[in-house]
Amino acid sequence: MAEVTSLCVLIFFGFVAFAVFRWRRRELYRLAAKIPGPVGWPITGNAHMFVSVRSSEDLEQVLRKHAGDIGSGISKLWICSRFLVVLSEPEYIQTLLNHPSAVSKDELIYGQATTFLGRGIITRNGEKWARLRKPAIKVLHPKSIAEFELKMQKRLDELYTVLDTKAKNGGHFDISHYITRFCFDLLVETGAGVKTINELKTNSLNFPTFLEEALEEATLSSISLLTIFNLNPNFKLKKFGYKLTQISENIMRARLNATTSSAQDENKNCLNIMDLATSVGELEKLNFHETSKLANDFIVAGSDTPSKVIAGVLLMIAIHQDVQERMYQEMKDVFGDSDRPAEKKDLEKMKYLEMVLNEGLRHFGPVLTARRIDSDVPVGSYVLPKGSLVILTQYYVSFNSKFWERPYSFYPEHFTPEANQSRPKGAFLPFNAGPRGCPGKLYAMQVLRNTVSAIVRRYHITTEIEYHQVTYKFHLQRSAGNPIIKLARRL
Ligand code: HEM
Repeated sequence: MAEVTSLCVLIFFGFVAFAVFRWRRRELYRLAAKIPGPVGWPITGNAHMFVSVRSSEDLEQVLRKHAGDIGSGISKLWICSRFLVVLSEPEYIQTLLNHPSAVSKDELIYGQATTFLGRGIITRNGEKWARLRKPAIKVLHPKSIAEFELKMQKRLDELYTVLDTKAKNGGHFDISHYITRFCFDLLVETGAGVKTINELKTNSLNFPTFLEEALEEATLSSISLLTIFNLNPNFKLKKFGYKLTQISENIMRARLNATTSSAQDENKNCLNIMDLATSVGELEKLNFHETSKLANDFIVAGSDTPSKVIAGVLLMIAIHQDVQERMYQEMKDVFGDSDRPAEKKDLEKMKYLEMVLNEGLRHFGPVLTARRIDSDVPVGSYVLPKGSLVILTQYYVSFNSKFWERPYSFYPEHFTPEANQSRPKGAFLPFNAGPRGCPGKLYAMQVLRNTVSAIVRRYHITTEIEYHQVTYKFHLQRSAGNPIIKLARRL
């Protein structure tokens, strides 16, 4: 009898707790009811849709199908008690990204990034985020990077040495690792004022392979159901994170040596990523390890993203010889027979190069990004309730035939001035927009222009791969899985 009474009391209190929980969230349920979406199961909601997801490509396909099924450009999902809204309408995406209540990142999506990168600018929120954001914009502006073009040219000369050997040998090879290493070295020198060749020799790590494996692990653990239910110990990802911080520590030591040594150092007086980390570290009373960790986001975002776009574009123009020829002719018009290095004013004249790079960013831009809503946000005729997690399906929009004449072709004409004018703004946001958009956009575009144009000027690029044979990886962004090309010297 006593057991039955206890059970009844337990059920009663369970019921009361559930009722209070529902009542407190009544506004969320009211607004959620107005957003279209598939009917969920009791308790787990729509979680079953993700059970078969084993890779980021699977996840992208589930969300793409979902975004496509719901024609209104907005759809809801429930993962147990978490409320998600998937946006695929450019106008809604644009509105959301610029709304001051949609600036926060959410643990459900960005938690794994924190395990790998630490709590830096990418995953911080509120005041702690703003502390890093303001100086980051300043530091990453190409104007603040002393002698960018000179340093760029020195790094390109090193890249040429490797690529000339490849051209001489004449075989096909995967370009991606060489470009990742190049972007990493360039970022560390231009953005952190350190010459990696010397300072990182002590670190026997192969950075491109390390980065690729770490991002794969971060992506897989983000979509694991164990992570959703907070049961993922993440030992492997923690180990990757530890190694990454060791790299940042090496760079930080080298930077501190440069600023304290009496030797003449050309980078000594320019503000940079490591100084930014140091000043925030001092403010937050962090030790050396934690301070160095603040640079992790910049090291990864700054070398991985541009390198994926560059490798992808090189593969695409190897496939599309007509595009490559037109780029080469444009350079001939600017430089004639001179082999002088490109300057900013030369690159600004190359309108076709810009169209090719934008088409590259459409192909190899972000797959998904997400925001947490801190107060109700109106989009179109809907209201996204406070506390919801909004997923922006950039990849779906980038390949939607509503906005692109030939979505599954590499077609730089997508970016003629007329085409740009006729497309809604939110349909092409490779760097996102608004207060949390990419602070490295200008720096990245300068790296893309310089590197791609320099390679096309020096080499004729070919491949045996056809457009439909290109494989893709889905990490932070979409990248070509097989950028295997062959080079022949032109100059
Ligand atoms: C082609 C190259 C690049 C692309 C396509 C790209 C794209 C993006 C996107 C879409 C975001 C927003 C992510 C989100 O909302 O979750 C972002 C954020 C960020 N990017 Fe980039 N990025 C590129 C290059 C760079 C470079 C070169 C740097 C630094 C040197 C950089 C540093 C950052 C940082 C620090 C953030 C986080 C900003 C914040 O949360 O306030 N990115 N990037």
